[in-house]
Amino acid sequence: MSMPDGQPAHHKPEACAFVIFGATGDLTHRLVIPSLYNLAASGLLPDPFCVVGVTRRPMESRALRDGFLKGLHEFATRRVDDRIAEKLLECVTAVAADPAEPESFGGLKQQLEKLEAARNTGGNRLFYLATPPNAFAPIARELGRTGLVKEDGRAWRRLVVEKPFGTDLASAEALNAKLLKILDEHQIYRIDHYLGKETVQNILVLRFANGMFEPIWNRHHIDHVQIMVDENLGVGHRGNFYDQTGALRDMVPNHLFQLLSLVAMEPPARFDAHTVRTEKAEVLQAIQVPTAAEALRNSVRGQYTAGSVNGEEIIDYRRINDVGPDSITETFAALKLTIDNWRWAGVPFYLRTGKALGHKRTEVAIKFRQAPLSMFACTPVEKLAENYLVVGIAPNEGITLQFNTKVPGPAVMASGVEMKFRYKDYFKAEPSTGYETLIYDCMIGDNILFQRADGVEAGWRAVQPFLDAWKKAGADGLEFYAAGSQGPEGAFDLMKRDGRKWRTLDP
Ligand code: BG6
Repeated sequence: MSMPDGQPAHHKPEACAFVIFGATGDLTHRLVIPSLYNLAASGLLPDPFCVVGVTRRPMESRALRDGFLKGLHEFATRRVDDRIAEKLLECVTAVAADPAEPESFGGLKQQLEKLEAARNTGGNRLFYLATPPNAFAPIARELGRTGLVKEDGRAWRRLVVEKPFGTDLASAEALNAKLLKILDEHQIYRIDHYLGKETVQNILVLRFANGMFEPIWNRHHIDHVQIMVDENLGVGHRGNFYDQTGALRDMVPNHLFQLLSLVAMEPPARFDAHTVRTEKAEVLQAIQVPTAAEALRNSVRGQYTAGSVNGEEIIDYRRINDVGPDSITETFAALKLTIDNWRWAGVPFYLRTGKALGHKRTEVAIKFRQAPLSMFACTPVEKLAENYLVVGIAPNEGITLQFNTKVPGPAVMASGVEMKFRYKDYFKAEPSTGYETLIYDCMIGDNILFQRADGVEAGWRAVQPFLDAWKKAGADGLEFYAAGSQGPEGAFDLMKRDGRKWRTLDP
């Protein structure tokens, strides 16, 4: 996401080897290879370049390429041009390595060095861990032990780590400590795919490339902020992962906090990875840590029961494969948070996310204070429309401003209207996976869109009191909501109690 002199970077990254662990996995087929294809189609892959697919059991390179091509046809976001696909796949080699058999990493090293010499990639290496999270530390350990990630001043070595990064504060700290024993922070790229979204990156531009928002972006003018990630899909086939994770861990310390930190951070003095990530971490560190009682009062947990979404039947969460019949895992979470700094003191941030809801909507709604009084007899102040600035992340990608205007006619009556900017009306972007910018940035060495250790830990620190309080409360306080509904009643009460309400859906 580099913007030298305000211009997007369009240069090819330096030559490198792209080494994927978990090469036969879902993530590789769904996102990594289609993203590499899109970069190739835009002329943004390095040259020379090679892809090394690491598998646990030995596999023929041809079979791996065939699998990639099949995946590409299934998951590509644009029409696949055979010549581009062939050129990309031609540089794929399969190599077997398994951290449970440390000697296999010696073999990986030998083969990689051979390939690097043959392909002329100059020793630059990007290791992408598209594996289950329990493999992150063991793979990093072996990469460290064999010297594969050691930077020698001539070539760079980088490690991309997928989510989830830890399951609580202690495990995230432990994983950071292990990685940072092997690599320097500048070599680690912790992915949060929300940062690959144009609409999310745009929050920085909206705030800091316009002079008109910043002066009112504070407690004097903003009443509260809502961050909503409502999903209409159920948990589907991910019962095993999801039942150990739940909505809070799955979404809040990562995706929702990315949105929160971009909205709430102080203006960075410079647009560089160090400064931006420092400001983001600082605002997360300023989230007030609640007591157990406050955590329970300021949160809502829900689990969906059977219902239907858009005419499709969704089974009860507890009947999903690998989910226990008395599971108390939440599929919906809502929190009220406060940020202890001068900009935000007294401004609540309401966050909510849930599965199997009646609609899909990801948005940040900034609610401004009401007019102090209404001089228009026909519209008393409590009837004035609310002033919102809404950042639509998905599916309505854009920005909406809601304000009052005069209803035409002899009486002076006010009514709420909306001014809407939609990306699709102004920009024609090729459909993408959302990973292209992230992968490209890793290759050019720009980690502005990746999480730094302190940011990840600050996120976990802020949600830990809720995790602890919920664990202690057990089934007490878990609410149920029917699939296809608007979520548990408690989420509405959380707002009502403060005299507020969630922004209604756009028609
Ligand atoms: C993933 C979660 O990280 O993000 C999923 O594991 C969730 O449960 C997904 O559905 C949401 O991403 P998006 O981009 O569809 O909002």
